[in-house]
Amino acid sequence: MESANTDYHETYRKNGYIIFRSKYLFDYFSKIMSNRLSEICKSTESSSGLHEKGEFLARDDNFNLVRDKKNRLLSSQSCNEAVTSLIENHLLSERDFITDEECLGYPNIYWRLVRKNSQTDVGPVHADKWFWDLNEWRIPDGYQRMKVWIPLIQSSNTSSFLGLCESHLENYSYSHLEDDGGKRRPSFTQAEIIAKLEPLPVYSGSVIIFHDEFLHGGRSTNTTRISIEFTVGTMNPEMIINSFAQSSIMDLGIQSK
Ligand SMILES: [Fe+2]
Repeated sequence: MESANTDYHETYRKNGYIIFRSKYLFDYFSKIMSNRLSEICKSTESSSGLHEKGEFLARDDNFNLVRDKKNRLLSSQSCNEAVTSLIENHLLSERDFITDEECLGYPNIYWRLVRKNSQTDVGPVHADKWFWDLNEWRIPDGYQRMKVWIPLIQSSNTSSFLGLCESHLENYSYSHLEDDGGKRRPSFTQAEIIAKLEPLPVYSGSVIIFHDEFLHGGRSTNTTRISIEFTVGTMNPEMIINSFAQSSIMDLGIQSK
């Protein structure tokens, strides 16, 4: 499958993103999220499924439990176990890592719950690199960042992810705001560029990997959404793409040579 994998990496380099299927990632993180939401919901909803728990937490009187970013971080144990599982399933190599931008001492894996038709719950348009530059977060020299974003609960036919193809090749100007904790957030207001972002076909069971400089944002739909994301630090983006491609090919039941 060498030539096909080269094509996948070429697509990523050209477009700034690539979408694969991954039953493993979907099943693995759905289970973790279900357990996490059970803890947040307490006993009342613990026996129900991820979808039901999401709907419970999306209620106005419960949403405060999952609004702040600090409440949307998986535990250190879950994050460390996820890295081990990703390596065991050959999606990451021993040299790759999940970044610790919040300086917590462990890989940072976040999730987000977006209430249906809520414009305020989604992330504004940005490139991830802007956060890293504004806050002077660092990864070791020679490593590159790639974001992995996985929808777990969302509309089956309406994407909740907006992106702009080839935007990682441009150099957009942006300003920033600073929150109470001193964290800087990019502010991008170029309406004519924002209008160009399109829903990308990322649905439950698929995963999108995108470039650090890729313009993207969330999109509210008429369905509650739960997604999970993390940033991979790697010296070899091509190998990451190849690994996810291989996993996706197997997931689709296609024999690889
Ligand atoms: Fe982002």
